[in-house]
Amino acid sequence: MATVAPPLAFLLALLGLAGAAFPEEPGPLSSVPSEVVRRYPVFLGRAHRSSLRQEPLHIQSILKVNRTLYIGSRDDLFRLELDNVVGDEMFYSKKRSWESNRNDIRICRMKGKQEDECRNFMKVLLSRPGGLFVCGTNAFNPLCANYTRDTLEMVGETISGMARCPYDPKHANVALFADGNLFTATVTDFLAIDAVIYRSLGNPPALRTVKHDSKWFREPYFVSAVEWGPHIYFFFRELGMEFNYLEKAVVSRVARVCKGDVGGSQRVLEKQWTSFLKARLNCSIPGDSHFYFNQLHSTSPILRSHGRDIVLGVFSTPANSIPGSAVCAFDMQQLARVFEGRFKEQKSPESIWTPVPDELVPKPRPGGCAVQGSRFNSSNVFPDEVLNFVKTHPLMDEAVPSLGQRPWIVKTMVRYQLNKMVVDTEAGPHRNQTVLFLGSTKGTVLKFLMIPARDRSIAGGNIFLEELEGYNREKCGEDSPQARQLLSLTLDRPSHSLLLAFSSCVVRVPVARCQLFSRCMKNCIASRDPYCGWTRGSTCSFLRPGTR
Ligand SMILES: *[C@@H]1O[C@H](CO)[C@@H](O)[C@H](O)[C@H]1NC(C)=O
Ligand SMILES: *[C@@H]1O[C@H](CO)[C@@H](O)[C@H](O)[C@H]1NC(C)=O
Ligand SMILES: *[C@@H]1O[C@H](CO)[C@@H](O)[C@H](O)[C@H]1NC(C)=O
Ligand SMILES: *[C@@H]1O[C@H](CO)[C@@H](O)[C@H](O)[C@H]1NC(C)=O
Ligand SMILES: *[C@@H]1O[C@H](CO)[C@@H](O)[C@H](O)[C@H]1NC(C)=O
Repeated sequence: MATVAPPLAFLLALLGLAGAAFPEEPGPLSSVPSEVVRRYPVFLGRAHRSSLRQEPLHIQSILKVNRTLYIGSRDDLFRLELDNVVGDEMFYSKKRSWESNRNDIRICRMKGKQEDECRNFMKVLLSRPGGLFVCGTNAFNPLCANYTRDTLEMVGETISGMARCPYDPKHANVALFADGNLFTATVTDFLAIDAVIYRSLGNPPALRTVKHDSKWFREPYFVSAVEWGPHIYFFFRELGMEFNYLEKAVVSRVARVCKGDVGGSQRVLEKQWTSFLKARLNCSIPGDSHFYFNQLHSTSPILRSHGRDIVLGVFSTPANSIPGSAVCAFDMQQLARVFEGRFKEQKSPESIWTPVPDELVPKPRPGGCAVQGSRFNSSNVFPDEVLNFVKTHPLMDEAVPSLGQRPWIVKTMVRYQLNKMVVDTEAGPHRNQTVLFLGSTKGTVLKFLMIPARDRSIAGGNIFLEELEGYNREKCGEDSPQARQLLSLTLDRPSHSLLLAFSSCVVRVPVARCQLFSRCMKNCIASRDPYCGWTRGSTCSFLRPGTR
């Protein structure tokens, strides 16, 4: 044991050495040489090969609509055609600037912000029937506007971006349209104190979460949102307050609201959600002492797998602790069931948190959606007792268990964290394999083949296929931990590639590099890569979907 570095020894001690449940962590079957990756096409904000490169990009948001990629950057919007990529650089087909006006910049500077913060960072980029919906921080005075899809022209007036877009480009935010309403999760003020889940722009009244109530949010970091059934689910992390010790502990959460909520009565929760509930997400390794991955970084969309709707999440340990990351899966049905379970409460500021006994929960059940045709056909006719209960009890007692009660993938023996993910559920020539691509804080991409289990549980195991450097040091510019932060990972199926967005560039990387295994059939098969196969010309080739 003398050779084990202290953090690892500590980790093993934590897990209890007897806890053999801790999975092994083999290295990748293939490490992709950097000279291969260096040739992949990169977008740097240029119109064509001979245009001068101006200041580096500050990419904030990415949106792929069919064969077009939209990129929201600092003061600029770009449109890029994914089918027109040739050579080692991608060029935009349209660029539109949206800068803050002088007055907004002056006020931003007067409030003590730096010159490079008092710009317009495009943090919201959504597609809606009429075109694009874009919000920018606008020198700490956020604004939103409609844009046309093809020419990127602003249509109509700008509207306030408050509660729709953060003030500070460093803050994480979430936005999605559902049923013609905009659902956002962000902070609504200059000082970033008032966190909110907000609905606006539709027919029903605008609604928000209760202001400055630590039971609802405590320093949240919003990660994603999905629509499922009558609800919108929001995934985030925040400081947990339900623990019986004073230490500040970050935990991961899922919250939900009813899409049809119209707010409470004039006495309780007026213009606020009557359906906001939240629960902890449990991504942990079972063993003698439980090991938790408490910090959620990203989630997948809802995936259909073996007849269930599941969501995958990438979690890590806190930055200042033992480095470790994990991917956990959650069954949406199981997740929704936690919201039908018991509520948690703290009777007095000194007492511990306990479940609320069923007989003390008022009826109709707090946090539910109003039902058409019933006595409570609208959330504003719920009894005050019910509204008061949900206002003071937004937290569920139970945590959402992960599928199979353990992570699908664990990485602890490395000096980086996994923080982004994209899943290809239609990998391989028969479109029946699942490949997970994970992005790390070092700018690398890890590729895993998921092996289905024979029994009913979904997670059989996984094979670590490949690891590659995604960040292109030569082309993207500056090399720093900040520059290597992957902002997003997008799968572009028609071109069989991934789009890796960093602050200063977008890199397009093919999903597989079969030619690297072309020396012999054995290599090709040993790669285990579902995208590759030994073909008639005696080479290892990419197998297009449908090939035999
Ligand atoms: C994207 O493609 C689908 C299917 O081909 C089409 O119905 C849709 O209108 C396209 N969306 C846009 C914004 O062009
Ligand atoms: C933006 O477009 C939507 C849908 O096309 C429309 O309802 C809305 O009024 C527009 N907003 C502005 C500010 O022009
Ligand atoms: C709810 O029911 C009442 C009468 O039972 C009806 O007047 C009202 O229009 C209904 N409201 C909604 C939103 O369906
Ligand atoms: C998380 O899941 C594990 C394994 O099922 C369980 O033992 C543990 O109690 C759970 N933790 C919480 C906080 O629910
Ligand atoms: C995918 O489909 C092919 C052809 O039907 C089959 O041979 C193969 O076993 C399937 N693979 C998996 C992982 O289900």
